[in-house]
Amino acid sequence: MSGAPIGIFDSGVGGLSVWRQIVHCLPAESTHYVADQAHVPYGNRSAVEIQEYCLAIAEHLVSEGCKAIVVACNTASAVALEPLRQRFPQLPILGLEPAVKPAVQLTRSGVVGVMATPATFQGQLYRATVGRTASAVTVVEQVCIGLADLVEQGDLEGPHCDAALQRFLAPMLAAGADTIVLGCTHYPFVIEAIRRLVGPSMAVLDPAPAVAKHLADVLRQGALLAKSSAVAEHRFFTSADPEAFDRAVARLVGAQCSSEALIWRPGPLLRLASAPV
Ligand code: DGL
Repeated sequence: MSGAPIGIFDSGVGGLSVWRQIVHCLPAESTHYVADQAHVPYGNRSAVEIQEYCLAIAEHLVSEGCKAIVVACNTASAVALEPLRQRFPQLPILGLEPAVKPAVQLTRSGVVGVMATPATFQGQLYRATVGRTASAVTVVEQVCIGLADLVEQGDLEGPHCDAALQRFLAPMLAAGADTIVLGCTHYPFVIEAIRRLVGPSMAVLDPAPAVAKHLADVLRQGALLAKSSAVAEHRFFTSADPEAFDRAVARLVGAQCSSEALIWRPGPLLRLASAPV
């Protein structure tokens, strides 16, 4: 079991920002990464739809023998983490939520900005975290419609991306935020552009390193860590175009891969031996 892969998924390429931290922190671990690009973005879909997609992806990862699952998507975690844990009680399943607590500890101005999708802000997980940890600060919630799509399209710099970011950042800057939480796993891929636009005095938080560290702890406690001598193997799956996904993986995290296609049928998610005709 300890030699089994870790399953990681997202609506698209965003979860690769978590994948790269996991691979960095746990170099002996193999991974299976699923990008549900047939349905990206998840952020403005209904909870029922997102849960259906997440359960099908998790079925796939479990059928591939994964020993743990990381829901590398704040939106999916917000609505599907509990249903996933109920369906697969035998597996450690980790989710992501916006890093509000560290931001509250860090802020000096008492104003924290959070960038996320509508579904994440509506989720109980986020609301409970804000209620529990952020009562003493002002939290400016910024819905970033279209930002995940820019990252999917590889539009990570230049005037178009800057204009969108400026629109999203303006209300947080106007409110006096000195700390910004990236509450969507797509956004770390534009962190350099964000830093350039907000200047060096703003803290911009990407939760991925903390998630990788938490995963390491969970695997250690469950005696699930791969042997340190193991040679890691990384496999990538997409529910859309495998060639476009291969290019995105190379561009975003520098990994060369030959991804495998997954196709949706009513009910299960099927793995294709060859590309769909
Ligand atoms: N990467 C996803 C997240 O962390 C969201 C992108 C989407 O809307 O699909 O929330």
